[in-house]
Amino acid sequence: MKIKACLFDLDGVIVDTARYHYIAWKNIANELGFDFSEAQNERLKGVSRMDSLDILLEIGQQKIELAQKNELAERKNNLYLSYIQNMTPEEILPGVIAFLDELHDKGILIGLGSASKNALSILNLIHLTAKFNAVIDGNKVSKAKPDPEVFLNGANELGVKPQHCLVFEDAQAGVDAARNAGMHVIGIGQAENLKNAEFVIPGFEDMNFNRLRSLYF
Ligand code: BG6
Ligand code: MG
Repeated sequence: MKIKACLFDLDGVIVDTARYHYIAWKNIANELGFDFSEAQNERLKGVSRMDSLDILLEIGQQKIELAQKNELAERKNNLYLSYIQNMTPEEILPGVIAFLDELHDKGILIGLGSASKNALSILNLIHLTAKFNAVIDGNKVSKAKPDPEVFLNGANELGVKPQHCLVFEDAQAGVDAARNAGMHVIGIGQAENLKNAEFVIPGFEDMNFNRLRSLYF
């Protein structure tokens, strides 16, 4: 069998927190005196908090000191946390739970590979933590996507070789991280934002083990 483990990104793949990240950054941009569009936000998807701030400041052509950067990153996170604090399992994206359960039944290991330092809190809020055999989040890695570290650590924790891992990602940085790790990757979203993914699907509603088998086994 070719695929022994599936590694899932969190934001934008399992839950639609990408929207909350965007609104929080837009708030910070507006405060600094510039606008920030959804198209520009594509560049921030999958990228760590500090790297996201650097991209935002580049877009707004702002140069600021490290102390203010730390303060802005903290404020963005507090805004973000205030948006997600009432999340419930109902916000899990359609088809995700059924697909995870099917993978589990077929003996495929399940891992999380997220850049977010808030990933475990979110998994707990949506009652999904127990479905994962390994959780690698932003607290466990030193190099952000597109560096492969997060997915290689996931594969390592699961005891599966990279070539037997399949990653699900909604961000270009994440697709690149998976490829850099030597893994298979399916993009979630629109193909133009997900270059180098082996396949792109809109979400998990039509995804199931049979389809996976027809694609990879
Ligand atoms: C990724 C998101 O999952 O996590 C990014 O796609 C976000 O938008 C990154 O910047 C870091 O998240 P956090 O929660 O640690 O600020
Ligand atoms: Mg994502």
